[in-house]
Amino acid sequence: DQYTAEIKAFTAAKADELEAFRIKFLGTKGLIKDLFEEFKTVGPEEKRTFGKVLNQFKQFAEARYEEIKESLTSEIVDPKSEIDLTLPGDGFEVGSRHPLSLVRNEIIDIFKRLGFVVAEGPEIEDDWHNFSALNFPEEHPARDMQDTFFIRKGDQEKGDIALRTHTSSVQVRMMEQGKPPFRAIMPGRVYRNEAISARAHCFFHQVEGLYVDENVSFSDLKQTLYHFVQELYGEGTQVRFRPSYFPFTEPSAEMDISCTICKGAGCNMCKYSGWVEILGCGMVDPNVLENCGIDSKKFTGFAFGMGMERIANLKYVIRDLRLFSENDTKFLKQFQSEI
Ligand code: PHE
Repeated sequence: DQYTAEIKAFTAAKADELEAFRIKFLGTKGLIKDLFEEFKTVGPEEKRTFGKVLNQFKQFAEARYEEIKESLTSEIVDPKSEIDLTLPGDGFEVGSRHPLSLVRNEIIDIFKRLGFVVAEGPEIEDDWHNFSALNFPEEHPARDMQDTFFIRKGDQEKGDIALRTHTSSVQVRMMEQGKPPFRAIMPGRVYRNEAISARAHCFFHQVEGLYVDENVSFSDLKQTLYHFVQELYGEGTQVRFRPSYFPFTEPSAEMDISCTICKGAGCNMCKYSGWVEILGCGMVDPNVLENCGIDSKKFTGFAFGMGMERIANLKYVIRDLRLFSENDTKFLKQFQSEI
């Protein structure tokens, strides 16, 4: 009975499982063979009943074997099957990276090779980290340079809470928490209260950079950024620096590169000038270093900041900022990459 149940319950998914079944019950050294040996030893009056049971059992096991064999083979090669193995497989869609991710990864890669690490910080910031520590004077129009989304009133010490307007706030956090030298870039999303158009958005992405150590000079700044654009836009990309103003750097500059789209021949990205602005930069103002607890007599540093959208626009010739956040797959699918 025990074996009957086992045989009944037996199913095989593979041919070798079925073969094991055959060996166990039906083989020349199998269980049934053994039972027939035993059959020879029983008395003549028992032979009739025992023989009947034994034969039934044998037939049952054989039938089950054939049944499973049948189902297995029909699964493997079903002559009625409509599967055409010569057909090509179903294609599947491969996703693509967002152009801003591509640009971000590339920028991180370039600066990593120069020894810069990646630093991150919160998007909801207090006034101290976004403005005051960065030498924006209280009630000074410089704060209007960046139309801020305020969230709520904060405390006396750290000030009002707002969405960060730049990732310079991460520089402050980094300097407050550590000791020089610092060599880091800060990629991230920033927010400004601007009407949405092809050229402005209420949020965008920046990569800022900070290098603070002994004897860091403006020529270090120039050479680092020059090297960066050679890597990003190709060998021979020209740069020029124009004097500028930021509360947190002194002296400050804006850097232009030779137009990578029309190569100076005149296009509306470079407004027919052959030059396009790509970033702001300067030597970290000593007040900022002191605000973050760093000895400005001993250490100097440079900082820079760029909008990732702008970098992407110039790399991929994208003329409308809104495309970056509309999730239109017709736009996004154009950016295929291996990274
Ligand atoms: N934080 C500046 C901005 O958002 C960019 C910048 C960073 C300029 C560092 C100079 C130095 O516009």
